[in-house]
Amino acid sequence: MAWAEFLPMHIPAVQVLDRMLRHGWPATTLSDGLAAEARRFLPHVMGDDTKAVSLRGFMASEMTADREGVLARLSFLRAACRDVALFGDLIFADPEAFMAQSETFSLFNYGLAMGVTEASIVATKPWVDYVSNLTRAESPILVPLVNFPAGSLVLELGGNSGVFARVLLEARRPLQHVVLDLPAVCELGRRRGLESGLSFVAADMLLGDWRRVAGFEPDVILFKSVLHDWPEAEAEHILSEAIKALAPHGQIIVAERRAFRGMVNATAMDYANLVFAAFYREPEVYRAMLQRLCADLSVTVTYTMIDMEWFVLTARRAA
Ligand SMILES: C[S@@+](CC[C@H](N)C(=O)[O-])C[C@H]1O[C@@H](n2cnc3c(N)ncnc32)[C@H](O)[C@@H]1O
Repeated sequence: MAWAEFLPMHIPAVQVLDRMLRHGWPATTLSDGLAAEARRFLPHVMGDDTKAVSLRGFMASEMTADREGVLARLSFLRAACRDVALFGDLIFADPEAFMAQSETFSLFNYGLAMGVTEASIVATKPWVDYVSNLTRAESPILVPLVNFPAGSLVLELGGNSGVFARVLLEARRPLQHVVLDLPAVCELGRRRGLESGLSFVAADMLLGDWRRVAGFEPDVILFKSVLHDWPEAEAEHILSEAIKALAPHGQIIVAERRAFRGMVNATAMDYANLVFAAFYREPEVYRAMLQRLCADLSVTVTYTMIDMEWFVLTARRAA
């Protein structure tokens, strides 16, 4: 059972679901008015059939595990639906104009994450909660594609609040997993609790010198949903820093959504992905960058489907 089966596609259904969840559903009973709206717009989760019962069970456990993340996801979906409805025709035609007018891009303001004042934390938390909730759903599919020996030293660039790191610590047992991210993001990550092997380092990934920043020579350098944020020249610069920092036998792992090829999820997640669609790339773009930077790399790519098509690219350097 997953978000793709639960989430509706239609905009009013997303809005009604948002109100239901804020009301405390599924743990609490809905008012008569909201229950009527729910039956009207979300019949697939309100029925007595086995599927509807298990969908409600799925949402109840999501709300227990990550209530703030679920609500952040619904807020983001509302904003994405609004942006697509008003300016969707600009997404590919004029991404700058789309970003300038969109609610979703004003939410993702990395500039406000440069400090650790309470104002920076308040501005940063909504989008950190959103991507953390996405990562909770993505991890069970991506982790089997991310392989490294137990005892490895892992550096994760833009690792956000550490959701992926925590799953990898459990599944792959690295000796240390360092998340490098912006100051407010690292602080939010620390507030989720620090477990053995996990640490957060606030730094600008463009500045490099990652061995010093991490405090070790990484066996694994991981980028999950990070490189698409950057224009090609900066993405290539970041990968060049990865090659400089990597241990001689190490590997660089890039997990990303593939280039957008339509509304394939058929739920509101298509709107959430569509707002970033102009920036997603095929793995060949990163493969070409890596091979330009270092001839001595062997690169493999695996594809998978989550909320849209994803890939995991692994580049290994010969010892
Ligand atoms: C699109 S988010 C992806 C987060 C996470 N890896 C995930 O999969 O959800 C990109 C991440 O890069 C971080 N970031 C952006 N610019 C950065 C910079 N200059 N230095 C370090 N981290 C940065 C952001 O704070 C954010 O956590």
